Amino acid sequence: MPLMEPYRIKVVEPIPVTTRVEREKALDRAGHNLFNLRADDVTIDLLTDSGTGALSAAQQAAAALGDETYAGARSFERFREVVDELTSFPHIFPVHQGRAAERILFSTLLKPGQITLSNTHFDTTRANSELAGCEARDLPCLEMKDLDSDEPFKGNIDLAALEATLTGPDADRVGLVIMTITNNGGGGQPVSMANIEAASQICRRHAVPFFLDAARFAENAWLVTQREPGYENSSPREVAKAAFRLADGCLASLKKDGIGNIGGLLALRDDEVAGRCELTLTATEGFRTYGGLAGRDLEMLAQGLVEVTDPHYLRARTDAAAHLAELVTTAGVSIVRPPGIHGIYLNAGRLLPHIPPERFPGHALACALYLEGGIRSVELGSLFLGDVDADGRLLTPAPYELLRLALPRRVYTQSHLEYVAEVIAAVAKRAESVSGYRLVTTPPILRHFNATLAPVDPPSARP
Ligand SMILES: Cc1ncc(COP(=O)(O)O)c(C=O)c1O
Repeated sequence: MPLMEPYRIKVVEPIPVTTRVEREKALDRAGHNLFNLRADDVTIDLLTDSGTGALSAAQQAAAALGDETYAGARSFERFREVVDELTSFPHIFPVHQGRAAERILFSTLLKPGQITLSNTHFDTTRANSELAGCEARDLPCLEMKDLDSDEPFKGNIDLAALEATLTGPDADRVGLVIMTITNNGGGGQPVSMANIEAASQICRRHAVPFFLDAARFAENAWLVTQREPGYENSSPREVAKAAFRLADGCLASLKKDGIGNIGGLLALRDDEVAGRCELTLTATEGFRTYGGLAGRDLEMLAQGLVEVTDPHYLRARTDAAAHLAELVTTAGVSIVRPPGIHGIYLNAGRLLPHIPPERFPGHALACALYLEGGIRSVELGSLFLGDVDADGRLLTPAPYELLRLALPRRVYTQSHLEYVAEVIAAVAKRAESVSGYRLVTTPPILRHFNATLAPVDPPSARP
């Protein structure tokens, strides 16, 4: 079937159309950090797919049924029933967003000095492990190193490294294993069911708790049905259910595959751990039947968790990402292959070889796309992941200089994405004129959110 969004538009929101001069001024005002732009300065916002999805008519109708009772709300019951059917976990706690689930679980389950293992910790997951006094160790599979290969499951955990860690000198220090599906920190690549199953078995054998970071559980399940032999006749919901049944619990930001503007989930099998988590939940988020959310949020999330595994929706979303990937590749820009679903990752280091890592090529490309066409994206390179000193000097670069174009759910149409591809093509044509950036102010933590930068001269202007 040709690419087509499987929904029609009922409510519209005008998007700002700006001039180049307006964008130059806006970028200047923002200290050349796209996080500092106002929504009104941005034409197509591909900063994140988190909390930015469009609600369905059914979700809005469900919101009207929101029961705001403090304890025992009907809306919690609906949320619990949907999550129970999907995950089978007996203890289900709503939280205000994914990182709250991380904080509650890690502060309850982990002791300082322990290690958390993952295919790749998302940055808040890493931060919450470290805040609990632990070391967050990533064990990505070896296939992930090659950005250009079309290996289908580059989000997998390295099973040999997992086994080696759990039998090696650090074995007693491992507090938990968390599998991120899909692997956001690893190029949005999926994890195979075979890998989840094998990791689950290894953890069981070594009596280590095994969790899923299930923010994009439906997108992972869809890619399993498309890429993993043996699952071609399964529905994405069947695959997702099978994945949850291999784990001791899950954490999830429901701002992604819950298709909610806000919300998260902590779900557990173990009664004793759940009892302790519940105390922290009540003390810091809210009573167990609302966890910091309104009844209307719980209703919308319950409906979103049903809609998100619709194969027509998942196919269209995957096709849209693949279409953008193809247009961008045709324009001569390398991407992390194979394209996933929630974002397309451009290889800025390869497009801008004249900009060294210490001049942040991913950030330079992000600013160039903004100036050219009002597109907001995010750098995933040395600005975000590199080691920088207090004066803004890069000590250790990131392994790759990437830029992520995240795709909000049900928000942009095929023609919006074609516009994005045209803007990228225009910048790619004059890539050698794109200039690098230097840090002006460098906050000690969360640098990419708060730093300010300034452009350095483009090569043509240099003597
Ligand atoms: C894989 C993953 N885990 C956890 C989180 C944190 O979730 P939240 O932003 O809802 O706190 C995110 C958010 O982007 C994510 O992508």
